[in-house]
Amino acid sequence: MLRDSFGRVATDLRVSLTDKCNLRCTYCMPPEGLDWLPNAQLLTADEIVRLVTIGVERLGITEVRYTGGEPLIRRELADIVARTTALRPKPQVSLTTNGIGLARLAGALAEAGLDRVNVSLDTLDPDTFKRLAHRDRHADVVAGLAAAAEAGLRPVKVNAVLMRGFNDHEAVPLLRWCLDQGYELRFIEQMPLDAQHGWTREGMVTADEILERLSTAFDLTPDDPKARGSAPAERFLVDGGPARVGVIGSVTRPFCGSCDRVRLTADGQVRNCLFATEESDLKTAMRDGASDEELAERWKAAVARKRAGHGIDDPSFLQPSRPMSAIGG
Ligand code: GTP
Ligand code: 5AD
Ligand code: SF4
Repeated sequence: MLRDSFGRVATDLRVSLTDKCNLRCTYCMPPEGLDWLPNAQLLTADEIVRLVTIGVERLGITEVRYTGGEPLIRRELADIVARTTALRPKPQVSLTTNGIGLARLAGALAEAGLDRVNVSLDTLDPDTFKRLAHRDRHADVVAGLAAAAEAGLRPVKVNAVLMRGFNDHEAVPLLRWCLDQGYELRFIEQMPLDAQHGWTREGMVTADEILERLSTAFDLTPDDPKARGSAPAERFLVDGGPARVGVIGSVTRPFCGSCDRVRLTADGQVRNCLFATEESDLKTAMRDGASDEELAERWKAAVARKRAGHGIDDPSFLQPSRPMSAIGG
């Protein structure tokens, strides 16, 4: 079991398959992109599956989420998913993606046993999308979402980050559209995890503000708190339900106290928190011939050192040296 010194148990493994992305969202990375990890440093598909297997078979991982960068870029994705869903006890397997290429791949992923997808979409306007993501791909994302629903990768969730003066006027229309399409929308507070270190507290649209905006058009009632578990999203029934909207207030309403997550980066480092300041190198240990037992012990020790929370409000807070695209969403 992966237990930390505060008694939290990590059962949800988030695996970044690549640090590369085909978009350049302003809250994430600069238009010119980043210095990507060299290929030799990326875990191979076999190495990923070996570590995930150790997590599931020896360490109590029950949910595996593949992320990026953009995980659909990884050619072996369907194979990795199929080998993950073949594990016993069978984990829940999901994907967090920007949706580009999903129109083509949703069927194969569903066949590989993928349970569901979360897709980022911050705007309904193709022009705003182009300015925000520096690529003219709005239609691809919309088509990807439709293909995911069609392939049964449900519930399809949509993640939207609102930015002041950019897309924050779209809160209500975004929710209307998602309700219409049958997607579950979650609004996310922007976190200090961008490569440019440009995050400011004033620029962040807070959970309170998001709820205020939505309340001008919808009647929101809090969902049963017991149903939340350790999920980051606080959910609300929209106009009496059954449709729901989520708000992920990572900064102003942190959920670190019930965190059940652990991360594996594309270059094989265990991170016990998005905001961790240290990593534990499973890749080098594995390539040096460590046994499954030894890797499991190393992994346990890394989780044991997890801190109480992200510490964004501490005066001494330092943004992690790796951006979110390299850590995994
Ligand atoms: P489900 O609720 O299982 O569908 O997934 P999720 O919401 O955990 O996953 P997703 O990858 O869609 O993440 C959505 C957002 O949640 C991310 O953009 C982050 O803002 C936030 N988030 C995810 N994991 C963490 C975490 O470990 N810590 C914090 N503070 N925020 C997280
Ligand atoms: N703050 C909050 N969310 C972010 N995402 C990417 N960068 C940030 C950030 N700095 C979101 C993406 C995606 C999810 C994995 O994380 O929009 O939906
Ligand atoms: Fe867990 Fe760290 Fe995220 Fe808090 S910030 S929820 S402790 S991973």
